[in-house]
Amino acid sequence: MNGGCVVAVDGPSGSGKSTVSRRLAVALSARYLDTGAMYRAVTWAVLRAGVDPSDAAAVAAVCARVSLDVGTDPQAPHIRVDGVPVDGPIRGVDVTAAVSAVAAVPAVRAALVALQRKIIVAADRIVVEGRDIGTVVAPDADLKVYLTASVDERARRRSGENMVDVDTTAADLRRRDQFDSTRAADPLRRATDAVELDTTRLGIDEVVSRLRELLGVRA
Ligand code: DC
Repeated sequence: MNGGCVVAVDGPSGSGKSTVSRRLAVALSARYLDTGAMYRAVTWAVLRAGVDPSDAAAVAAVCARVSLDVGTDPQAPHIRVDGVPVDGPIRGVDVTAAVSAVAAVPAVRAALVALQRKIIVAADRIVVEGRDIGTVVAPDADLKVYLTASVDERARRRSGENMVDVDTTAADLRRRDQFDSTRAADPLRRATDAVELDTTRLGIDEVVSRLRELLGVRA
């Protein structure tokens, strides 16, 4: 991979996006952008302001007044809201339960997509993960990947990370998948030119090396 390069990694929760994207970014000496963390950070601000996540106008107002600082080092990604580090709190159950509603607000998406594009342009090479990277944020990405895995496998991975039981996690994943793929604004869907990889039975190393091969061929 020579010169500027953008890799878009999309897919549902638990498909392996974060681990794979960070590992790929390290291997490529590239930056790494976790766009889900940005939606989670706005959600954290919404909850902290005591705003109802289903009140789209109030959510949009919170988003307009907060300032996000997003770090793109794949070895140590971080995110701050108005200077406050929120890396821990944005993974909490309250933020996870509310984030789909916040991510469905068009004004929130417009603001975050604009910020994501600025970060991408500023980076020489970058791996970006999310739900709408290949379709909306970076439609000209050099490589688009769509990761999937069975719901059971995704729930198993997430429940290990969150210490929540597998059945509860599977139910939450189904609810979020349904919400994220049927919302009006930028729903989760595979870009027609994305390479789809089912990671249910693949180890992280295998996925990363498949993506490196694809880049070697295409970039
Ligand atoms: O990947 P994650 O679980 O941290 O994402 C959190 C939520 O944000 C998820 O419900 C979908 C939403 N999201 C989105 O709508 N668009 C993105 N580019 C990234 C995440």
